[in-house]
Amino acid sequence: MQSDQIQHLFTEYFAERGHHAMASSSLVPPADDPTVLLTTAGMQQMTPFFLGLATPPAQRLTTIQKCFRTVDIDEVGDESHCTFFEMLGNFSVGDYYKQGAMEFAWELLTQGYGIDPQRMVVTIYPGEEETRQLWINVIGVAPERIFVDPDCTWGPVGDSGPMGLNSEIYVDLGAHLGPDCFEGGANPTDSPRYLEVWNLVFMGLYQETDGTRRELESKNIDTGMGLERITMVLQGKESIYDTDLYMPIIERAAGIAGVTYRDNAEIDRSLRVIADHSRAISFLIADGVLPGNEGRGYVLRRILRRAVRHGRVLGIERPFLTEVVETVVARFGGRYPELTARQGTIARIVLHEEEAFGRTLSAGITRFEALAASTQAAGSTTVPGDEAFRLYHTYGFPFELTAELARDAGFELDRAGFDAALEEARSLSRQSAATFADTGRSRLALYSQAGVTSAFVGYEHLQHAATVTALVGVDTAAETIDAGSVADLILDVTPFYAESGGQVGDTGEIRTESGVFRVDDTQRPLPNLIVHRGEVIDGYLSVGQPVMATVDAERRTAIQRNHTATHVLHRALRIVLGDETHQAGSLVAPDRLRFDFTAREPLGAAGLQRVQQIANSATLANTAVTTEQVAHADAVARGAMALFGEKYGDIVRVVTIEGFSAELCGGTHVERTGDVGPVVVLNEASVGSGVRRIEALSGVAAVAHLLQADTLSRELARTLHSEQQQILSDVQRLQADLREREREVDALKVQVAAANLDGLLDAAQEVDGTRVVAARVAAPSREAMLQIGDRLRDKLQSGVIVLASELDGQAALLATVTKDQVARGVHAGRIIQATAATIGGRGGGRPETAQGGGTDLAQLDAALAQVAAVVKDQLAG
Ligand code: SER
Repeated sequence: MQSDQIQHLFTEYFAERGHHAMASSSLVPPADDPTVLLTTAGMQQMTPFFLGLATPPAQRLTTIQKCFRTVDIDEVGDESHCTFFEMLGNFSVGDYYKQGAMEFAWELLTQGYGIDPQRMVVTIYPGEEETRQLWINVIGVAPERIFVDPDCTWGPVGDSGPMGLNSEIYVDLGAHLGPDCFEGGANPTDSPRYLEVWNLVFMGLYQETDGTRRELESKNIDTGMGLERITMVLQGKESIYDTDLYMPIIERAAGIAGVTYRDNAEIDRSLRVIADHSRAISFLIADGVLPGNEGRGYVLRRILRRAVRHGRVLGIERPFLTEVVETVVARFGGRYPELTARQGTIARIVLHEEEAFGRTLSAGITRFEALAASTQAAGSTTVPGDEAFRLYHTYGFPFELTAELARDAGFELDRAGFDAALEEARSLSRQSAATFADTGRSRLALYSQAGVTSAFVGYEHLQHAATVTALVGVDTAAETIDAGSVADLILDVTPFYAESGGQVGDTGEIRTESGVFRVDDTQRPLPNLIVHRGEVIDGYLSVGQPVMATVDAERRTAIQRNHTATHVLHRALRIVLGDETHQAGSLVAPDRLRFDFTAREPLGAAGLQRVQQIANSATLANTAVTTEQVAHADAVARGAMALFGEKYGDIVRVVTIEGFSAELCGGTHVERTGDVGPVVVLNEASVGSGVRRIEALSGVAAVAHLLQADTLSRELARTLHSEQQQILSDVQRLQADLREREREVDALKVQVAAANLDGLLDAAQEVDGTRVVAARVAAPSREAMLQIGDRLRDKLQSGVIVLASELDGQAALLATVTKDQVARGVHAGRIIQATAATIGGRGGGRPETAQGGGTDLAQLDAALAQVAAVVKDQLAG
């Protein structure tokens, strides 16, 4: 039976039993679940039906689904593993359940395909009595043909989703592959003799991201049978690769290599890898995947390179994959028209990628061999990660390939070391991308070499078809730029607005059939030249390719709001401050606007309020914003505002808000002032003599700001047990209360310190007949310290007082000497001079009182300890 007949029979069988046949969905799943890279099962497109989120075209469905699984990538080349395959499936959305699924599968296998029931065994989940009984009593499977397998669960795809227990049907491939599984033989799941062909999933559960499960409202059925495996069984082949699904491809590759299939196991493995991967490559590209360095782009790149390497193993040194891919398209284009439709694209992308990789492959393999030799010579069995990284970085040699070469040569590979080196390199390259932006001058030469100009159509369009006219890499112009490289891209026509007149450059995406370029910025280095700066994120782009250029519309809309808001604010400022005010600079970005203007004085709260009132009345008036090209002289005569010192051409563009403002401006604007939404000025400040700056928000950002401010004031009111309108007066009252309390506390501290004065007097020392008090106090202020000093002096009547305190985190000293002691030669200023050095400071003063301060708090006691000796010297003096 030909595979085409097998799949046809499958669809017919289920159609006759009330199943609606649906087309395969794309290999690229819808973007709503980022954890799912590629379509791996027929049930993915049924998920919304299983969950009751969408209505299915019928409760019974059947598909032949294109699938791609990376899990088995290293197994590819053996008898039964592949990456790309077609899955035959029937589904029930709340219609038949376990029994129906089992009856259909058994009947089709035994009667439709004619497989002897004696060749089949089934597995069930441990404890699944219901399923066991159904197999025995309804289907008539002998009890010894039922095996328990704890792996009998399936799903969810991705982090969460529908799942269920399942039951699998295996076919016995023959005694030459080992003992049977009865009477103590291996479980069929572990035996090469048994091949799983059909998986019946009882989709009754939903699994959350945290692993918890709940019952689904509708009990569903999801079954999947690999077309390749059932074909292998029905064609009586040893391997899926020997079926008519692969043989034409294998023969084509064998022909190119000049080898024979089924002569040598190693050669067979390489031929099979090429056959599987070229099928996968063709189908992936047909569904829009492009080679790249991340995600599904990387999956494609990886298998493409692996196919090329296996070509080398077979001795093919020239690009050959396009020829093999041609056979794939010829073989499957009938059932999958997307292959035929995109045949040219597939061939171009494969050739480009193969050529690029071929150039580095030879160098990389030679380098790896040297590396393996030195690793061995060093007595190690592990290839160092930084060396693997060098291979990757210098030769473009993918990690998986190094891993594969290492495994084949019997080595381990240090993954952590590789990752660390990769991370380091990434941060370096981020820096170099930043430097790229600084080389403006030399880049001008590169652009003019290209000799191209570009037309701007971005006033009317956010998306436009165009042609790549030049590509300029970091230091040279190029015909082609690959994924992972930064570049400047030039188009003949572009909707991207280049930074000018304060408005920032557009960002977005430029797509060709072979690649995607992410535009991070747009610049206009010459009047007629618009440069898109960014990175090729998928595939490659070449000069001459047609593109679709798409501006990030949401961001552009935000920019347009801010630009019109800038004109509105400009006019409002002139109304409030007078016509001598003029613009002195401006920034129009998506998230905010900044506007500099000449003014002698701050606007102040009232002025700001007024400006915002005028601006918001203007936006609420919802006036049309119109643009026209007029002669410069006419524009000036009509009173259009122009930038002082700016050069304008003979014909200028005037942006008018009828009855409100007119400005010479090349920027992009909203259609009516109402599109701006609210305008909120965040702050006003001086930025130099006579120039002031406001920062403001409009549109979505302004709304967010107002809501946030409102929430904050509500919270404040709640915390203060007050009303929103009263917050200000309440806070002012609280502040006044606080100041009053502080004054009271200070007075209390002085009283407390004063209460201890007697203790200090008792501790006074006698130095040659003079009483000396040297003590720490806790004074709240310098003022308080002086008060304490005065009180002590009054009590002491005759003597020397030196006080030390911590004041605002600094060390402070105070010396007071009674008159009679001054007469004996004691000098307060000099006492402070002598001791302040110890606390890392200085001070001095008159003979009777002096003060000092320093930073070294830890030395305060040491400074006090010096006092007696200093006084003694002065008395002796
Ligand atoms: N979803 C199950 C599988 O992929 C049955 O279709 O095996």
